[in-house]
Amino acid sequence: MVNWNDKFAARTAYMRRSTIREILKLTQRPEVISFAGGLPAPELFPLERIREAMRVALDNRGAEALQYSTTEGCNDLRDWLAARLSRNGLRVTRENILIVSGAQQAIDLVGRVLLNDGDHLVLENPTYLGMLVAWRPYNLRFSVIPTDADGLVVDRLETVLRQNPKLLYLVPNFQNPQGVTLSYERRLQLVKLLHEYDAVVVEDNPYGELRYSGEPIPSLLELDARHRGSTALDGHVIYAGTFSKILAPGLRLGWVAAPAAVIDKLVQAKQSADLQSSTLSQILAYEVCRDGFIDGHIERIRRVYRERRDVMLAALERHFPAEARWSKPDGGLFLMVSLPEHLDSTELLKEALNHQVAYVPGTDFHIEGGNNTFRLNFSNAQPDNIEEGIRRLGVLLKTVLVHQPA
Ligand SMILES: Cc1ncc(COP(=O)(O)O)c(C=O)c1O
Repeated sequence: MVNWNDKFAARTAYMRRSTIREILKLTQRPEVISFAGGLPAPELFPLERIREAMRVALDNRGAEALQYSTTEGCNDLRDWLAARLSRNGLRVTRENILIVSGAQQAIDLVGRVLLNDGDHLVLENPTYLGMLVAWRPYNLRFSVIPTDADGLVVDRLETVLRQNPKLLYLVPNFQNPQGVTLSYERRLQLVKLLHEYDAVVVEDNPYGELRYSGEPIPSLLELDARHRGSTALDGHVIYAGTFSKILAPGLRLGWVAAPAAVIDKLVQAKQSADLQSSTLSQILAYEVCRDGFIDGHIERIRRVYRERRDVMLAALERHFPAEARWSKPDGGLFLMVSLPEHLDSTELLKEALNHQVAYVPGTDFHIEGGNNTFRLNFSNAQPDNIEEGIRRLGVLLKTVLVHQPA
């Protein structure tokens, strides 16, 4: 028998199944109310519109939709995205857009073209787990910057930028896992620092369109151009977007917006990864989104998720012990709870599952600390279940705190 462990490449040592994922398999039992996933609400998928778009794609463009296409992506979808991103003074062109198989692939490709082994990466703590999984095999050196209710504490960034890091990675809007948003003032401060230190940031923005309260804030991509007094996309930001949260993750479609030289290199990396993203998915997404349909659809998603967020926040107030703290997101899919330091949310998950409720422990999102935190998703449960699930968790936490006071 082959001893595969002797055959695997050294970098696979950084790849492992998450133990938490194994625990979370238990959350699929129907009696469990799960706040663990990060899934959009399936009842909001615009099935009728997608069915109609599929008919158009096959009837009018069947040969094209089922054929190989260019690595860059279909031109009408790239043009549509370029027009959509051209706002607040920014002029994006087709050459600035690469269609990818979800924002996760954008992250993977950016890693392939920018990261050398041992490079220095600047991160929010906590940060998006899928990025850590994609980039850990590069054996990176991490500098972690704390976050508060206004997102990354940019004041703490300058000393790190003096060390000339290779890359920053940020989710400025309704971050996964915390749900916090980088304030306008901090974005301005950040963009100024990027220029001063010639530093590059990956702006991962899957949730930006899902705002339920507060005023929209321009992206780093836009502010970077404004700072340069330019309308062209040739600055310090590589931007990743996705159709996963505004349309359907099963299409596996996202995009990168970046300077043309970066897109060119990413195209080469994508060519070897998968040649191209699905032509059928791209034509379908274009046919669904055109004519303004997507804006009405996003408005519908916002209404439903806003209510679910509000139900969860009200239930937390009602049922959680005074010792717990939680973020109050203006959008996105998640919020994060912090318990007193001595409690371990991974240990508590087993108890939570006995109470038929699930969350994701915060440890894996953190480079440092976070054992006392957990993430709650509010997009994928009905309001009644949110109320009941938070009540169950509240009962558990109050009991635990009686037995293990701080
Ligand atoms: C911050 C962040 N980036 C990227 C992704 C990946 O999304 P996609 O489905 O577009 O690959 C997610 C998915 O949850 C995410 O939360």
